[in-house]
Parts: sequence; structure tokens; C-alpha cells
Amino acid sequence: TPNDKNSQMLENLTAKEYWFDHCDIFCISFQDYTATIFLRQRWTDERLCFEGNKSLSLDGRLVEMLWVPDTFIVDSKKSFLHDITVENRLIRIYPNGTVLYAIRITATVACSMDLTKYPMDKQTCTLQLESWGYNINDVQFYWTRGNDSVRGLETLRLAQYTVEDHFTSVSEAVYETGRYPKLVFHFELKRNILYFILETYVPSILLVVLSWVSFWISQSSVPARICIGVTTVLTMTTLMMGARTSLPNANCFIKAIDVYLGICFSFIFGALLEYAVAHFCTLHRSNLRVHTKVDSKQNINTSSNRKEEKSKHSGCSSPMTVMKRLFCISDCFYVKNPYHIDNYARLSFPLSFIIINVFYWVYYLYF
Ligand SMILES: *[C@@H]1O[C@H](CO)[C@@H](O)[C@H](O)[C@H]1NC(C)=O
Ligand SMILES: *[C@@H]1O[C@H](CO)[C@@H](O)[C@H](O)[C@H]1NC(C)=O
Ligand SMILES: *[C@@H]1O[C@H](CO)[C@@H](O)[C@H](O)[C@H]1NC(C)=O
Repeated sequence: TPNDKNSQMLENLTAKEYWFDHCDIFCISFQDYTATIFLRQRWTDERLCFEGNKSLSLDGRLVEMLWVPDTFIVDSKKSFLHDITVENRLIRIYPNGTVLYAIRITATVACSMDLTKYPMDKQTCTLQLESWGYNINDVQFYWTRGNDSVRGLETLRLAQYTVEDHFTSVSEAVYETGRYPKLVFHFELKRNILYFILETYVPSILLVVLSWVSFWISQSSVPARICIGVTTVLTMTTLMMGARTSLPNANCFIKAIDVYLGICFSFIFGALLEYAVAHFCTLHRSNLRVHTKVDSKQNINTSSNRKEEKSKHSGCSSPMTVMKRLFCISDCFYVKNPYHIDNYARLSFPLSFIIINVFYWVYYLYF
């Protein structure tokens, strides 16, 4: 009704303005971010005009007695108004009826991130402000200083991110109950990859390189080569575990870092397998040599000895012979000398690692 106090107030309301002076985003997880915001709203209420040329500052307790906009943060999961030592609100009334209303709030706002390119990702998050009850016919929202309305992002120091770009926009929210004014602040976060390079990429590259050291060690030094192989595999496993704990709840995504660690793990595992193959071939060749030597010896031996030796050897080597055959078909056939396996590996492992790296980095950084 026209006499209703609230509608009277609405008629007198000319404009509301919003700007942020200080924005301190101190926590960003992969589903939300938490920010402490100084939200300042300004509007004109002509009933509050008074004589004089000085503004009047009121305490937060007097807010109850004035009309204030019913702004809320869309997508906020949890937010609170600071109240130490008193409620962090401020009201300033100017002689011409302009009211400045500032509050300090900490809000956790949903911002779902696409982590497929983690840690080479860029995320766009928004902070949306809407009027809860007054629709677009009642109030209008706009940013006081356009794209410069939000301040403090330039000096923001975040552990993992840099704020790349930010801008503001004005729109409308359409619901069943009507259309409501809406202000949106967009900001783009770029993850600082340097930390990941130092923490994960460099160690895993070094591990892969370490696993190649094995190709330069003589095939006869079994402990040395096995030691390098197993140690690098285990260290790589630890590294993969460590990378997973940095984003504990996001392990269902296959991230770029997981792909890289997977590649490194395959190379390291491949190096270990290479030794197994090469060693098997060598062993097998020497067995063959021993075998022929023994056979020639047997010819000189007495028949009783010969029988004994023969049964011993055939019992021992027949499964080996089958495996040898299978194996020789695939590998020894091409690699005349098993020592050549190492020579091939020395070239093919680094070369394929470099090629895969080129594809990986080009894909994740430019596509
Ligand atoms: C406004 O302030 C000035 C001094 O700053 C004073 O001279 C003037 O009289 C004041 N005007 C009113 C309307 O009070
Ligand atoms: C009212 O006064 C304040 C402070 O002097 C000024 O910033 C504001 O623009 C004025 N508002 C109107 C509607 O004149
Ligand atoms: C604010 O920035 C956005 C994106 O850079 C641009 O599209 C828009 O026109 C800018 N608005 C104003 C008022 O400058």
C-alpha cells in the first residue's frame, strides 16, 4: 500500500552503488575460494537529508533503524560478518541524503574448476551479488567505477595463483519469482607453475635420466643395475603419492600432472624391463656356450658319466630352451648381440622421452 513504510522508502531510493576497496583472497581450493571482502554500498535516501556540510558516521547498531539493501552473495557456501570487537559495519550519512554502508565479510564462494590441465590451468571464478527480495523494478545495481570497482587484487599475493585479469559486469537474475538485479565480478586465476616444476617435474625428469644410467653399466653387474632400476621405480612411486596429496579431494580427475608422472613412471619401468630382457638374453647366450662346451666334454667322458650329465642338463635346461626359443624369435633374432640392446636403449629412451615431452608441453601449454 502507498502508506506502507517500505514502499515509501523504495520510492525515495534513487541508486545504489557498489565497490570493493580491498579484496583479500586467502584460500582457494579446487571447488571454492574464500575471500575477506570490504563490501561498500551507496545509495541515496532523501529522508535522511539534513542541514550542514559534514557527514555523519553512525555505529553498526543503528543500521537496524535504516533501510539497507538486501544484497546476498550467490553461490556462497559459508559466510560471516566479522564481529570483533563490534560488528564490522559502518554507516555514513551525507547532508544530501547519500548513505554509505560498508561491511566486512568473509565468504566461501563456490567456483568449480576444470582440473584436466592442472597445474597448467587457468580458472575463472566469479563473485555474484544479487538483491534477495527487491526485483529490477524496485532497485537497480551498478558498479561505481566500472572495471576498476574492485581494488586490492594487484597487491594480492597468493601461494599458487596470480590474478591475471578481472572485470565487472551487470546483469539480471531470472527466477520464478521475478527478475532481480545482479552484479558479477569475474576474475581469472593462473596457477604458478614454477612451484610444480621445482616440486614435481624436475625430480621426475631427473629420475628418468637416472634410470638411463643403467644402460651404461656393464650387464654383468646385476646388483648395480637392479638397484638403480628398483630405486628409481620406488622413488617415482613416492613422488606420485606426493603429487596426489597436494589436491586431496581431486583425485578422481586425470590431471596433466598425472599424465606426466605416468609417462615418467613408464620410462623408468621400461628401463628396468630393458635390463631384465638384456640380462636374460646374455644369460641365455652364455648358457648356450656352456652347454655346447659341456656337450663337447661329454663326448670325451665315459658313458656312465655322460648319462648322468645329460639327464642333469636336459632336466635343467628344457624349460629354458622353450623360453629361449620364444624369446629369440622376438628379440635375439634381430639383436644378434644382446649387448646391443643397451646400445639401442641409450639412444631410443632419451630420444622418445624428448619427443613425448615436446608433445606434452605443446599440448598443455598451447591448446
Ligand atoms: C560549510 O563549511 C565551511 C567551512 O568548512 C563553513 O564556512 C560553511 O559555513 C559551512 N556551510 C554550512 C552550510 O554549514
Ligand atoms: C552527496 O554528497 C556526497 C559527498 O559530498 C557526494 O559524493 C555525492 O555525490 C552527493 N550525492 C548526490 C546525489 O548529490
Ligand atoms: C570491462 O572489461 C571487460 C573485459 O575486459 C570489457 O569487455 C568491458 O567492456 C569493460 N567495461 C568497461 C566499462 O570498461
